[in-house]
Amino acid sequence: MTTNFDLVLNRRNPNNLNKWTTYPKDVLPMWVADMDFRAPKPILDALRKAVDHGVFGYEMPPAALKETVAARMDRLYRWKVKPEAVIAVTGIVSGFSVAAREFCTPRKGVMVQTPVYNEFHAIKNNVDTPQIDAPFVERLDGNILSYEIDWDTFERRVKKAGMFLLCNPHNPLGIVFSRKDLSRMAEICIRNKVLIVSDEIHSELLLEDHPFTPMAALSSEIANHTITLVAPSKTFNVPGLFCGFAIIPNKELRERYAKEVDRLRLHVSSMGLFAARIAFSGKCDGWLAELRRYLTANRDFLVDYVTENMPDVHLTIPQATYLAWLDFSAYKLKKSPYDFFLKKAKVAVSDGKIFGKGSEEYVRLNFGCPRSILEQGLDRMRKSLYRR
Ligand SMILES: Cc1ncc(COP(=O)(O)O)c(C=O)c1O
Repeated sequence: MTTNFDLVLNRRNPNNLNKWTTYPKDVLPMWVADMDFRAPKPILDALRKAVDHGVFGYEMPPAALKETVAARMDRLYRWKVKPEAVIAVTGIVSGFSVAAREFCTPRKGVMVQTPVYNEFHAIKNNVDTPQIDAPFVERLDGNILSYEIDWDTFERRVKKAGMFLLCNPHNPLGIVFSRKDLSRMAEICIRNKVLIVSDEIHSELLLEDHPFTPMAALSSEIANHTITLVAPSKTFNVPGLFCGFAIIPNKELRERYAKEVDRLRLHVSSMGLFAARIAFSGKCDGWLAELRRYLTANRDFLVDYVTENMPDVHLTIPQATYLAWLDFSAYKLKKSPYDFFLKKAKVAVSDGKIFGKGSEEYVRLNFGCPRSILEQGLDRMRKSLYRR
């Protein structure tokens, strides 16, 4: 291994407001979804070169960048994308918000599968459109949680939607959807004339080399009904550079989408564009392979630790992402687990309730950090539970 992911970096610069400085100094942050690792060297070198050049003028997404995105889809999934189908956006939240503004209405809402990433829930507050929930069915095997699609609910609820916002791989559940499930979701959406927007921001953070299929790669018919959102941000830990891509093979959809991007004046920063080109070029793939091994080992460490030391906790074994989902309801804590761990363990996790109704007893834990930090966080949580 050439990258030392065990290295603990200091992110507590008092001039920055980030996951390490939001809470008091004695709190370990295991919440917002960025990692405590340096980005790969080729990206740092490209950014350094730009800094040394010293001119930070306006930059537009060049054709070569769109070609790089298209080539990556082909290389990873044999998905043929025309470079012209690629639109740069200022991140994936902006990307799906644009889609909701353009393709949803007060009568035709956005359907999401809950529990799901908190920003999916914010759409209804920012766009005049209702949210339609299609909750997963939870299963428990020993202490391990898994989730399945409730197809009857999916099919019934999607009829009220203008757009289905899929999260694949899923945050916070860590599911990588099978080709079979993706095909069935797509078939139902197309039959009901519902646009599919597939948030695939976590698609390269696969654990144990779990296979991933982009929704739109399944068939040209599905691609024609789908807006795919990808970004190098989670994979290469550059989310603060705010650069993502909407891939829209359907010309009519693409033109409507691009017009809305233009109306909103969503311009990606030059550093985001430079970093994305290198990130998707293949030059960082060795780093990514090492990262995936490290995250897989962190996930295994977490699952083993919880199973041995907090046996009443139910948790997922994520197939992708660096996010775990844990249910503390068996402990009957007087406060929410989020409040409890913040106060008693000095660990900041993400509060389950932000991911949807019924998740109040759950937390999302970010294990994209050096193993020693993960171990410290888990130790603090374990001790706080037994100190009650
Ligand atoms: C599923 C998902 N989509 C989007 C984002 C954020 O994307 P961006 O920062 O590019 O807006 C996140 C971040 O956690 C996420 O988990």
